[in-house]
Parts: sequence; structure tokens; C-alpha cells
Amino acid sequence: MSSATTGLKAKMVVDKAFKIAEIDPRIYGSFVEHLGRAVYGGIYEAAHPAADTYGFRNDVKTLIQELNVPIIRYPGGNFVSGYNWEDGVGPLADRPKRLELAWRTIEPNEVGTNEFARWAKEIGSEVMMAVNLGTRGVDAARNLLEYCNHPGGSYWSDLRRSHGYEQPHKIKTWCLGNEMDGPWQIGQKTAQEYGRIAYETAKAMRLVDPTIELVSCGSSSTAMPTFPEWEAITLDHTYEVADYVSLHQYYGNRDHDSANFLARSMDMEHFIRTVASTCDYVKAKKRSKKTMYLSFDEWNVWYHSNDTDAKIDPWTIGPPQLEDVYNFEDALLVGSMLITMLRHADRVKMACLAQLVNVIAPIMTENGGRAWRQTIFFPYLHASRYGRGESLLPIVDSPKYDAQDYTDVPYLDSAVVYRAEEEELTIFAVNRHLDEALELQCDVRGFEDYRIIEHIVLEHEDLKAVNTAELESVKPHSRGGAECRDGFVHARLSKASWNVIRLKKA
Ligand code: AHR
Repeated sequence: MSSATTGLKAKMVVDKAFKIAEIDPRIYGSFVEHLGRAVYGGIYEAAHPAADTYGFRNDVKTLIQELNVPIIRYPGGNFVSGYNWEDGVGPLADRPKRLELAWRTIEPNEVGTNEFARWAKEIGSEVMMAVNLGTRGVDAARNLLEYCNHPGGSYWSDLRRSHGYEQPHKIKTWCLGNEMDGPWQIGQKTAQEYGRIAYETAKAMRLVDPTIELVSCGSSSTAMPTFPEWEAITLDHTYEVADYVSLHQYYGNRDHDSANFLARSMDMEHFIRTVASTCDYVKAKKRSKKTMYLSFDEWNVWYHSNDTDAKIDPWTIGPPQLEDVYNFEDALLVGSMLITMLRHADRVKMACLAQLVNVIAPIMTENGGRAWRQTIFFPYLHASRYGRGESLLPIVDSPKYDAQDYTDVPYLDSAVVYRAEEEELTIFAVNRHLDEALELQCDVRGFEDYRIIEHIVLEHEDLKAVNTAELESVKPHSRGGAECRDGFVHARLSKASWNVIRLKKA
């Protein structure tokens, strides 16, 4: 451990009775957009030595499978608002190269709906498909759904079969457009306009396949001037046809204030609470019995690559866009964002770390070369691996600090997951203190005969340390040293650290 013993102490109580909700594993979803090298040079690179017969990289698949990603959003993102899905199906030789306007690249359409759906199935992930409500609308959406999900005997389903995909893809989750509130979005809409088109699209899509789940577009971030009125107005239209409303949020440390940066998950907390309240307001207004759930389908740190991106020439295939190289403090905030979603497991039922490969991603690749884990890979891995079960509300008594944009920020940020069948309890904890270790005492007397089986720690002397293809300098170890005595866990959480304390009944 890197810090000397100090007086900083925090207490926590955990009990089976403090159940928030069963965690929907889909909160560990991710996102692959036709953007930069996410698809071309990321998951797909036909000329790569590790490519499979379909052109998808096996080395990348292995890393994604390590993360056990239950659902992957596709094909965008901003990309979807200018996308003609028909360009990406059928014989490769007939597929057009298009000007892709969202990111100003050339889209070769070598990968499309069928290739992606097949690949996702192979790696054990569901697809969360987005439809284009920017340049298109009801017709293209219902046709795509028919193409993907109808078994056969109709124009679009038979077209899929003629393309070599006899069985329907059975895609359950569909996003009604992307960030339609944003001025950067092709075909941006007012809340009223979006509400109407989303409702009509949902209606038609449900007629094609009533078993689908739909995500209504929420605000692109808490900073949007239309937030949260956007949710109130759009949900007024879509409340009864949608199952989820989306939330998107990215954070950065542009002003080099790490204490403030690590507190940014408090904004995420405020975002979730506000959207849930707005949903409940619409529910009350409509005298509805239905609860709207939240799909946090874009979240991450994103800022490192902004300046470089501005200098990239347009109209190439797979340029290195949004290639944030993540440092150690980014991993801590990603950990806190995961913790925040776990504490709201009653409302947040899906979430997508944006994105998965190369583009603001936990996995990086070289064209023709290696693939490796960025710093943020690890909290995501741990949460996906150990964060399935019931989310329990930890009662936390922690010292606090004031930062530039936030007051009363607890140094200890924590979430707890209980797996009843496996008789396992996992405490996720971030110590936000940049200079001091935190002595944690956690009351687990309700868990008789539980013992520590592992205390995983992600720590580093340098908040700015990064991983490269040569060296994973930021990686976890299991020498955290937590102990359990007389029903209390005692753990020393190193300064600025991510901790996973695992207990199991003896
Ligand atoms: O994930 C990168 C971009 O961020 C997405 O295309 C868009 O939806 C968001 O603004």
C-alpha cells in the first residue's frame, strides 16, 4: 500500500434488509458506433493476423469476453441520425461508400446489421439497436425491425433470408433515435417534434413486433439548456409506448482539478434523481401505473482527445477519432460512476460504457497489431464480474470535502452487492482522498460467518499514469489486506484508490 496510516476514518453498515433492487446485468453494457476505429480497425479488421473468417479480430473478442458485456448499443450515436441501414446489408460488392456526416468520414458499409448481430451473438452480447430519427423516421424504422426480427414470408424478412441470415436476429431493445435534443445532431428536433415522431415510430414498431423494448431519447447531458423540460415534454408523448428513457453523460478534468473531477459522479447522481423524478411526474400526470426505467446508454470520461480530433482531416475510413488515452484518475471516476448506478439499481436498468474499442474505450488496438486494456477497463471488469445480484444500500458515515463545483463530497464512495445463492458479498469503494488513506470499518454483523476472500485494489502513485501496448502500468492487485473480525470488516483504502472487498460465507 502506498499511503501512511492516518486519522481519516469512515464507517459503514451493510445489511440484507437494506435491499435497493435486483441488479439488471445490462447496466454493464457498452457501445460500438461507426465512428473512428471502433468498427474498422477495432472489432473488425479483415487483414489482421488475428481476424476470424468474417474479418472480426479474435484478440479483441477475447478482451471483450473478459468484460462479459451483456448488451452492446449499435450503430450510433450521432452516426445513426444520418444512416441508411439498407446500405449495410446484402452483397458486399453492392454496398455504397457514403459521406458520413456526423463524424465527417467515409463509411464503407463493410460491416452492417447482419455482421454486427452475428458477431454480438458469438461473443455472448445482446444488441441494443438504434433507429434513425434524424434524416429518417417511421418507415425506415419499421422496415429495419421487420428485417431483423420477422421470421420470414414478408418482403424485408425474406430479404434478410436472401442475404444468408435464415433466422431472425430477435433484437429486443431498440433506441428511438439518438440525442435528438443536440444542435450537433443531424435532424435535431424540438421536444414536441421528437415526442411526436418517437411516439409514431414506437407505435408502428410495436405493431411489427410487440415483444420489443423501446428507449425514448432523454437529454444529452445535465448541461443541456432544455434539461429536464425535454424529459417532461417528450415523455408526455412516449410514456405509454416506451420502457426506458435514455441518459448520456461524459466528464472531463479540463481544469486539472482532480478533487473536483473525482466528485463529478455527484452530478451523475443528481442527473439520475432528476430524470427519475421527472418520469414520476409524468406518471402522476397521466395517472399511469407504469414505472419508467432509466437507460444510461452513454457514460464515460471524454476530453483527452478533443484537441487532436479537431485536427483530423475529413473523409477517410476509420481515422483515429476520440482515442482518449485514459489515466489512473479516470479509472477512479469510472469506478464512482459504476457505484452511482449500482446505488440506483431500482431505476437504472441498462447502461452502456461509451464506448468499447478505440473510441473513448476500455480497449485499445493498433491497426494490424496489438490490443490492450486501458485503465478504465478494470473497474468496469470488476463491476461486471462481481456486481451482479442484489444492490444493498450502504449506510455511510464518511468525512467530506468541498470542491470547486460540489460541496459535502464524501471521501468514501461505496456500493454493495449481495449474491444470496452464492453467499457472497462485495463492497465496492473509492477513496477520493488524494493524499490520505481511509480506515474503513464496515458493520457486516448481519452476514454471519462471512470471511474475506479477496481485497482487490487499483492504485497508483501517479494520477496521470496510463497504460500502453507495451505496459499495463495501471492494473489491479489483490493485496488490499482487508480483514473481517467479529462481524466488522476493517480495511485500509489507499489514497485515491478503487477497492473491491469480497466476502463469502465460510
Ligand atoms: O459516444 C460518442 C458520441 O457522444 C455519440 O455519438 C453521441 O451520441 C454522443 O454525443
